[in-house]
Amino acid sequence: MKKAFIKSYGCQMNVYDAERMADVLAAEDYAETGVMEEADLVILNTCHIREKAAEKVYSELGRVRVLKQERAALGLDTKVVVAGCVAQAEGKEIIRRQPAVDAVVGPQSYHRLPELLKAGRGAVDTEFPVEDKFSQLPAPSRAKTQSRGISAFLTVQEGCDKFCTFCVVPYTRGAELSRPVAQILAEAERLAAAGVREFTVIGQNVNAYHGEGPDGRVWSLGRLLRRLADVPDIVRLRYTTSHPRDMDEELILAHRDLPALMPYLHLPVQSGSDRILDAMNRRHTGDEYRRLIERIRTVRPDIALSSDFIVGFPGETEADFEDTMRLVDDIGFASAFSFKYSPRPGTPAAESEEQVPEAAKSERLARLQALLETQRQAFNHGTIGQSVSVLLEKPGRHPGQLAGKSPYLQAVQIETGAHRVGDEVTVRIVRAGSNSLFGELLEPGSYGAAA
Ligand code: SAH
Ligand code: SF4
Ligand code: F3S
Repeated sequence: MKKAFIKSYGCQMNVYDAERMADVLAAEDYAETGVMEEADLVILNTCHIREKAAEKVYSELGRVRVLKQERAALGLDTKVVVAGCVAQAEGKEIIRRQPAVDAVVGPQSYHRLPELLKAGRGAVDTEFPVEDKFSQLPAPSRAKTQSRGISAFLTVQEGCDKFCTFCVVPYTRGAELSRPVAQILAEAERLAAAGVREFTVIGQNVNAYHGEGPDGRVWSLGRLLRRLADVPDIVRLRYTTSHPRDMDEELILAHRDLPALMPYLHLPVQSGSDRILDAMNRRHTGDEYRRLIERIRTVRPDIALSSDFIVGFPGETEADFEDTMRLVDDIGFASAFSFKYSPRPGTPAAESEEQVPEAAKSERLARLQALLETQRQAFNHGTIGQSVSVLLEKPGRHPGQLAGKSPYLQAVQIETGAHRVGDEVTVRIVRAGSNSLFGELLEPGSYGAAA
């Protein structure tokens, strides 16, 4: 058997795609390896979201080229493939910049990897095939499914039609497409039968989901989650990433009605300034976001909120930035990602003449991150003394410990007792470190009693 090494950058969609690429390659007699040096096939599954992400690929390719030469000296052939969003955005330019690359394949055409590998050097496939890849991908083998662990990603939607003026995703991933419910359920049941206990339902714009249901009607994400909660042995559901504009009432009420749906929501707002939100084409205001959060909190008061922020978007003034700080203050986030605006070729905002100087971006990012970090720590400390359920996912840091996640997506370490990976246990949080919490097992049935 030949060996394939796949390295993913960027978002969860790429993690999922890497697994599906491994399925395609397994059918071609490739086994996956975690060691690049022994690989006959090296795939870099890339991200184009910010300049730094895209540049990382070229420095990694420099290392791959050296490896390819060393292996060639030993008489070993190494094929190098660039997949993912840089592949989509730059196509054969990648081969021009780095001749060690044999093939380039976009996120919507990797089911055709085998043909591409046979086509030989210089093959490029960055089409958006009309026949969508999901219906052509092979089902994973049982052994492979079993290695996927307790928590698995489940892609239900791809692509984006929102065209935020800073973002490359609509160009690299293409138009929004929802998988039919039956296809999703078949994959979900296969994963559950192989030991998966938690699904994170993913899509670039997951709450824009509008797939064909078995009843011939269009199903929303809220409806799909209700159905997924009925898949045997599934104890937890999450979904990401959502857009504020697509948080419909059915989805909000799912947070009230579905015990399996975890009280955690990643809902990027990007900015707190109405002027900037408009220039970003986000199509909502800061107050609309506040009201939406209020509504969600009335149905699920303990929900933990998370967001993405961009600072230094073209034209952002100190006053605009203050609006962002105020919104963060008003809402209170359990966790968040924040970035300096990075101009991306081909997007409208990159053309703006009001680019914010690097120094201002850095200064604002530092202030925002300090505030977000204070909120994160406060949220984590707030769970000390509470009893929470933890889904055990893997061995912990020390022998005899297991690690898992709280409903609020916090990492929790516990002393295991008789429990095993895959169990959902109730613990009392006794301590909060900087990146994880520490919990003590409570007897079954004592959930809530200790709070
Ligand atoms: N589909 C998701 C996330 C897309 S990318 C959404 O709509 O929220 C993840 C995050 O990267 C975005 O939320 C945004 O905060 C950030 N991002 C995207 N483009 C960027 C750019 N050009 N510069 C800096 N950050 C960017
Ligand atoms: Fe990008 Fe906006 Fe689409 Fe999110 S909603 S993927 S930020 S264009
Ligand atoms: Fe990056 Fe593509 Fe995801 S650009 S964030 S890998 S959709």
